[in-house]
Amino acid sequence: MKKLVTVFLAVCLILMLSSQYVTATHKPKPTPGEKLYKAKCKSCHGKNAAGKFAPNIVGATAEEISAAIASVEKMKKLKKLKSDKIAKIAEYLATLVP
Ligand code: HEC
Repeated sequence: MKKLVTVFLAVCLILMLSSQYVTATHKPKPTPGEKLYKAKCKSCHGKNAAGKFAPNIVGATAEEISAAIASVEKMKKLKKLKSDKIAKIAEYLATLVP
């Protein structure tokens, strides 16, 4: 019986250590907002939204993004972007604020 308990504890320890190893070696997955940003905005607003030929938009809110889509000539093709996706992008942009 004692032996069984020891084996059980050893297995627990191995599982604990290996799960830590997995989380430590895998990069965090990009959030949906980050993926959307990279697909829809990065070409103009640059890496990490720091600006390219379009301005730096770090921390832009969903309202600001919607306003830009409505008014900026170059962003007209984004008119079909749904508000839930805009909200996700805004969430991502908020994470870039230092
Ligand atoms: C085809 C290029 C292009 C794409 C793609 C694009 N933008 Fe823009 N965006 C611009 C330009 C150019 C301006 C600046 C317009 C101006 O200043 O008159 C701008 C302005 C903005 C502004 C206002 C910034 C300010 O300081 O006035 C926001 C917010 C913004 N964009 C968000 C986004 C988001 C979010 C996306 C992706 C969903 C996106 N843009 C995709 C070209 C683009």
